[in-house]
Amino acid sequence: MLEFSEAQQRHAELVGKINHANYCYYALDNPQIPDAEYDRLLRELQSLEQIFPDLISPVSPSQRVGHAALKSFAQVQHLMPMLSLDNAFSADDLLAFDKRVRDRLKTADDIQYCCEPKYDGIAVSLLYENGVLVRGATRGDGATGEDITQNVRTIKSIPLQLMGAEFPQLLEVRGEIYMSKRGFAALNQQARANNEKLFVNPRNAAAGSLRQLDSSLTAARPLSMCAYSVGVVEGGTIPSEHFALLQQLKAWGFAISSEVRLAADVAACIAYYDAMGRGRDSLPFDIDGIVFKVNSLELQEQLGFISRAPRWAIAFKFPAQEEITRLNAVEFQVGRTGAITPVARLEPVFVGGVTVSNATLHNRDEIARLGVGIGDRVIVRRAGDVIPQIVAVLTEDRPTDIQPIVFPTCCPVCQAPIEIEEEGSVARCTGGINCAAQVKEAIKHFASRQALDVEGLGDKLVEQLVDAKLINDVADVFALQLPALIALERMGQKSAENLLAAIEKSKTTTLPRFLFALGIRGVGQATANSLAQHFGNLDALGMASSEELQAIPDVGPVVATFIVEFFARDATAELLRRLDEVGVQWPNITPKPLDQLPLAGQTWVLTGTLSLLTREAAKARLQQLGAKVAGSVSAKTHWVVAGESAGSKLAKAVELNIPVLDEQGLLNELEKYA
Ligand code: IVH
Repeated sequence: MLEFSEAQQRHAELVGKINHANYCYYALDNPQIPDAEYDRLLRELQSLEQIFPDLISPVSPSQRVGHAALKSFAQVQHLMPMLSLDNAFSADDLLAFDKRVRDRLKTADDIQYCCEPKYDGIAVSLLYENGVLVRGATRGDGATGEDITQNVRTIKSIPLQLMGAEFPQLLEVRGEIYMSKRGFAALNQQARANNEKLFVNPRNAAAGSLRQLDSSLTAARPLSMCAYSVGVVEGGTIPSEHFALLQQLKAWGFAISSEVRLAADVAACIAYYDAMGRGRDSLPFDIDGIVFKVNSLELQEQLGFISRAPRWAIAFKFPAQEEITRLNAVEFQVGRTGAITPVARLEPVFVGGVTVSNATLHNRDEIARLGVGIGDRVIVRRAGDVIPQIVAVLTEDRPTDIQPIVFPTCCPVCQAPIEIEEEGSVARCTGGINCAAQVKEAIKHFASRQALDVEGLGDKLVEQLVDAKLINDVADVFALQLPALIALERMGQKSAENLLAAIEKSKTTTLPRFLFALGIRGVGQATANSLAQHFGNLDALGMASSEELQAIPDVGPVVATFIVEFFARDATAELLRRLDEVGVQWPNITPKPLDQLPLAGQTWVLTGTLSLLTREAAKARLQQLGAKVAGSVSAKTHWVVAGESAGSKLAKAVELNIPVLDEQGLLNELEKYA
């Protein structure tokens, strides 16, 4: 049995280690110990506190797990009002703001601004007395908020005790509580698995998590906090510039944005806004604009406030990624494999920088989950290049004439029965090669850039050719003749000749491309590559058993079955014969055991935007050379390829001393093995 004094010493040691690990992880974004070690330290601390309950203090990391549920949140009066920000929606608005600042300060000099992302989360006020967190509160109406102390204590990026010694006796830190995109996706995935209601977006999920009366529920949610300013400061001093203040907050243990920059003038602010706008989608969290703050606190003081917003700061908003519109109709599209996707036809709305009139509704379950009907007002979200989604239905003042969405039982194109797959969410047309929609999609896929790459044979033309009954499957493409093509609407002699030349050229291809082009279910570019490398020729692949197929890294039992079934079909044999007959050909590959490939045993991570080749193609090439391509950087990563606006993964690679290549570097590397 430990003596109390020994336990006390070990306890202090553990508290120090855990707090340091938290700080490295959250404030410095530079994890120092593996999660398992962190958990081990925490468990040791907890068992020590169980034996010696006197060791428990409010600042012990064990106290982050949540407390007994509250009946309601108490109200708190803010010691200093929590203000909001004026908005700018254009560069002109920002220039006008800068002019107002200089006019008011009666200066012609450039103003230095601190530029920060505007986190899309929930504002929070954290009060520290003698360095100890005593209260956490929401903004509320700015004067009165709600006491969420129990909940904020569960958020590991919020220090329970400030670091260092030189902090004011009373310090109020303000910031934003948010949920990362990844945390949000994981939370919703879990909710979906448990058939629970999904959150609309990360902000909504963060707000919902903070509103829990039972803080152990909050503790289980992936929340973070980013500090961006201070409120009351008594019994101590703070730096005289905002940028330096943020650095000071970091030194006291808070996470601040790693994107904070100083701008020498308003032009630099606009450049920052533009750059962040381009990188917005690759940030690990949602931001809805940029906040510009006059950097000098003395000038801030001189400028003061007007109504509820400071004159020294402004939020320059990005185009909204969510808007309200109306669901006018639902159409059912038939994909290459017969999967039926409900597509929402929307009242056109400007969202995420473009006009959106269609959004995916995914599948039957999604429609049921949203409880959406035709005529409903809905929230559409378009973030980055992701297909627009309907994330919620506005149920207040719902129109009375909502029509239910009826999922068809027959294929809308070929009328064949629709089958519901075992897992329940995917509905599939059973028409196969008799379904014009499936035929069209199969041919579009076959001709696409990553497959046989038939230049000029785009989606529209494929539809025209199938509708005109000139082609009925992929092999028919090679039998097309000039006169028939010229007879088509909008097709001249020259383009018809070019198309035939492109078709001829596409006959000489590679085995990975050909396999991908066949459109076998579950066989994407990367799998097609692995199959080609492993088997070297089509016959060997066609004869492979499910077990042999599963020996390949990215082939599981389901895909193996799809491959076996594909090659067992008479129609496949017939199709392959015809393709061979017209002269589709590729060089066979001498299969190399996977462990003898040049990059065998190496793990690569791709991050940021690549512009010379697609992420998928880079991944496929690397896998073809034997490398494993992972999604996150760890000590086991060998190389990181960082494209345009790479973010946290690049930072982590630098921290861990992992070699980083830019896109050209990757190409040079691949070139070596070409
Ligand atoms: S400064 C007086 N900085 O935006 C200055 N606010 O519309 C007050 N926000 O309620 C705020 N990121 O919740 C500031 N880097 C940032 C911010 C930020 C997000 C939120 C904050 C505030 C709202 C203002």
